[in-house]
Amino acid sequence: MTFSFRNGCGNGLITCAISALRPALRSVFLMLGLLLGLLFCSSAAADIQLPEPRTEGGDGIFALLKSRASAVSSNYPAGRVSQEELSTLLWAASGLNRPGKGWTVPLAMGREPYCKIYVAGDEGTFLYDWKEHSLKEVSKDNVKGTIGRQPFVAKASHVLVFVTDGKALGSLNNPRTEEWGHVAVGAMTQNVYLAADSLNIGVRYIASLSADVARASLKLEEGDVPVCIMPIGKR
Ligand SMILES: Cc1cc2nc3c(=O)[nH]c(=O)nc-3n(C[C@H](O)[C@H](O)[C@H](O)COP(=O)(O)O)c2cc1C
Repeated sequence: MTFSFRNGCGNGLITCAISALRPALRSVFLMLGLLLGLLFCSSAAADIQLPEPRTEGGDGIFALLKSRASAVSSNYPAGRVSQEELSTLLWAASGLNRPGKGWTVPLAMGREPYCKIYVAGDEGTFLYDWKEHSLKEVSKDNVKGTIGRQPFVAKASHVLVFVTDGKALGSLNNPRTEEWGHVAVGAMTQNVYLAADSLNIGVRYIASLSADVARASLKLEEGDVPVCIMPIGKR
């Protein structure tokens, strides 16, 4: 078979060339296209739009303050946390709670959250996007077993990772921003404790983590600092 670009087909050159292909060759091209399509689909980012968080009901704040406690490491709760529950925990940590501007935690100078929350699960790692209340896929790797230094962390349904955002803190242009980042993580993690308790989910604040695994698996930027992890599991 010969390919000629001067075969008199005018503007339909490509159509003519394809129809001139032998059927066998055509099916090879079709298969290749199919394979490429499959490859593209399997590597496309699997972002997750979270369902609405729960914002009412549950125990009152004083009951929750009374019952707040860290899940015990020797019998760490490992039940699966649903997307609705994950949505509520992330919203409690750093969700928008007023129209436009205003979050569940106080933030210096009323700035947008300068701490990032990542979710490590069986399906991969995700960054919580408070603007869209969604999870943006970072990677398809399951790092639950390597991000913590204590073996029970791997048993959790998901592991929340709190990271101070170097770029956002730098833009505050204040010598105390490192401290402010840690204050925000403290407020966020306490909110998670209280919301988790209300949902019968066990949680624990854990400072012991592998910064190298966090940096690589979460694709952190220079200046970002992983502060702590919180494994979560249904009781
Ligand atoms: C700053 C900080 C760091 C912590 N680091 C760890 C840790 O690395 N590993 C762990 O198992 N628990 C860790 N914890 C959990 C504490 O051990 C736990 O809060 C403490 O035993 C009190 O228990 P409670 O939270 O039930 O009151 C940490 C807690 C805080 C506040």
